[in-house]
Amino acid sequence: MKLIYLTILFAATCTAEYGQSLDDLPKLADNSTSASSGIAKYILPSLSYPHNALEPHISEEIMKLHHGAHHQAYVDNLNAALEELRALEGKGMQEKGIREGLEETVKFNRGGHINHSLFWKGLAPANTPESSLQGDLEKVILEKWGSAEKFSEAFSGTILKKVRGSGWGWVVCNVDTRELSFETTRDQDPVALPQVVVLGIDMWEHAYYLQYYNNKKSYLKAIWNVLNWKEANERYVACLKHPKAS
Ligand SMILES: [Fe+2]
Repeated sequence: MKLIYLTILFAATCTAEYGQSLDDLPKLADNSTSASSGIAKYILPSLSYPHNALEPHISEEIMKLHHGAHHQAYVDNLNAALEELRALEGKGMQEKGIREGLEETVKFNRGGHINHSLFWKGLAPANTPESSLQGDLEKVILEKWGSAEKFSEAFSGTILKKVRGSGWGWVVCNVDTRELSFETTRDQDPVALPQVVVLGIDMWEHAYYLQYYNNKKSYLKAIWNVLNWKEANERYVACLKHPKAS
């Protein structure tokens, strides 16, 4: 009976919308021990394509490590820190330092989980209906930048100039102005309202180094072939209808 319940819950949570809030990410009740019984934990979202589906642009080896090890670690560390914070509930001020350290751990790993969940859905195998620029997003890009090539050059240029060390490059839409623009964030900082993510590119070395070494420009050129423009367009259209944040 428990297995049936978990299967149904898992199926339901895996179809949940992955947004840029932790509330949008799926959880699964953890019944592995009596101590953890009933406490929902964040789970690693499944990919909608096989690990080798983005070859030759992003290697299977990178995808396996990136999704199965790096993203899994953000999820595990987030769950562990939240559990430790729960254990501190009701404790006195002497635990303040420990609590602040755990909150920092939650902040970092929450960002890692949110950013990667958005990232996987923003990718698709090359030469598929998803991997072509389309819809309202295509129209606004052509109006504002003139061509897909100029848009790509401007986006890559912003990332190469602004992301120093580990971070992310984003195409964002502002829910107040409905404008499309580029944004970068450091470490695992997520995008915040009034901006919403249209597309994200992971610029941590673990995303490209095994295949492209230090050549970030080649990685950016390659990943252009496996961006999921169907997903990006849906996010852009959702931004146009999103309630204003201010
Ligand atoms: Fe990553």
